[in-house]
Amino acid sequence: MLRLRSQTDPAWLERALADMDTILLDHAHCEKKAASTAINLIFKYQDHPWLMLPLSALAREELEHFERVVGVLRARGLEFGRLSPSPYAGQLHQAVRRGEPERLVDTLICCAFIEARSCERMKLLSETLPDPELAALYGDLLASEARHHQTYLDLAAPLVDRPTLEARVRAIGAHEAAVLGEAPPLARLHC
Ligand SMILES: [Fe+2]
Ligand SMILES: [Fe+2]
Repeated sequence: MLRLRSQTDPAWLERALADMDTILLDHAHCEKKAASTAINLIFKYQDHPWLMLPLSALAREELEHFERVVGVLRARGLEFGRLSPSPYAGQLHQAVRRGEPERLVDTLICCAFIEARSCERMKLLSETLPDPELAALYGDLLASEARHHQTYLDLAAPLVDRPTLEARVRAIGAHEAAVLGEAPPLARLHC
């Protein structure tokens, strides 16, 4: 179950369908960033052994997603390159508190929400894209992102008691919905 506090505005889907080239390029960046975030957590929290293998597996999967999306770009005659990111992830992470374990708890919850929002939007794409191959790609990927959402929440569980974790998931969920609501109307996965 995704813990999102808002549903995607139908206007996002219209924007996305009208500019799938940019959505795919942004999507490739998101997969690369997801892998890098997981690897950074492995480096930063080496004293938390329960994080190591799940984050390593997650990073590998995200790199596989990156490779698949770059493959789709190439099949469309496009090459991977720079693209200004949505302000979404940066603003979402402004909810992260200082000090440990609060910082790690909040970071893991933010990652969980990014996965959840990706999953929600990939589901919309998989249901509406006219191109069956592209629809199938998103159908495939959304299942992984739903799993990653739960992985990040599970990884936060040993750090705090259940009610504290639940309260933080609710608070960051509300923040996520607000950040998304204020994002500029660009063709990005998280705008
Ligand atoms: Fe992914
Ligand atoms: Fe993911």
